[in-house]
Amino acid sequence: MNYGIPYMGSKSKIVKEMIKVFPKADNFYDLFGGGFSVTHAMIVHRSKHYKSFHYNEIRKGACELIKDAIAGKYNYDVFKPNFVTRSEFQVEKERSFYHKIIWSFGNSGKNYLFGKDIEKQKESLHNAVVFDQFDDWAKKFFGFETFGKLKDIKERRLYCKNKIKYNKSKRMDLEQLERLEQLQQLQQLQQLEQLNFYNKSYIDVPIKDNSIIYCDPPYKGTADYDGNNRFNHAEFLDWVHENKSPVFISEYNIDDKRFRCIFKIKKRSLLSSDKSVGDKIEKLYVNKAGLNLLMKNKLNKSGQKL
Ligand SMILES: C[S@@+](CC[C@H](N)C(=O)[O-])C[C@H]1O[C@@H](n2cnc3c(N)ncnc32)[C@H](O)[C@@H]1O
Repeated sequence: MNYGIPYMGSKSKIVKEMIKVFPKADNFYDLFGGGFSVTHAMIVHRSKHYKSFHYNEIRKGACELIKDAIAGKYNYDVFKPNFVTRSEFQVEKERSFYHKIIWSFGNSGKNYLFGKDIEKQKESLHNAVVFDQFDDWAKKFFGFETFGKLKDIKERRLYCKNKIKYNKSKRMDLEQLERLEQLQQLQQLQQLEQLNFYNKSYIDVPIKDNSIIYCDPPYKGTADYDGNNRFNHAEFLDWVHENKSPVFISEYNIDDKRFRCIFKIKKRSLLSSDKSVGDKIEKLYVNKAGLNLLMKNKLNKSGQKL
């Protein structure tokens, strides 16, 4: 299962294992919530262990996109996505998080999703699948000019996917529709009365008593969210250390004796400064308050030794 929305630096692939580590409490805070994957997984798998969940993200528009997805705004029954061209993307990404995230390469919000050489064909396929409108290129590609009785956009996309596979033209895939389907799955979320949204810096989110805090801050020197590469890691680590609540931090490496690594997992990563792809070991660190609580609970739920 995919968790959350398509998002640069998403924890979707590893989150199911990672969340087993978090101790029970009244409140769970996801202070660098990004694409919502951690809060989503917590609500799906651990909703009995907390009274409320708190998602925070500093980027403008993230909360609205997630709330809209949960409310069903992106369901194909009500939303027939128009193809977004390169020039529309340049304008719309500044005012719509949907355009910024769904229609950008790697969900980074920066560059347009498709290369110039293939965008016209992508538009042809999109209009055929979503609107059953075939231009000459689409007629040639499919070998017919209407999907006829095949009305469901998801089914049409799968038909298209198989055709692409058969033709071995991998670059033709309808990635934007796959991303939309990930947004649609949020509609199935239950227990929403327990869910709170904040659009602030982590430091300004009011934390209630009896809480577990999870932090997935921008990695040092790697991710760049909306050109905001000035995240102050030293200040953040001081804040974590001084926090009375148990705080868990996702990082590749924290070379600071105040924090203890309690969990490791291999993650296929697309985010590195040289844009290379490879396996990285993602770690979960905890502050003193968190370590004390885990000790008290005797066993870290992942089964890994402290
Ligand atoms: C590594 S991503 C989080 C990914 C998220 N866990 C997921 O699975 O999609 C880091 C996030 O922290 C956000 N961020 C950066 N500075 C922040 C701050 N001061 N307070 C809160 N969020 C911040 C970034 O915009 C980005 O979305």
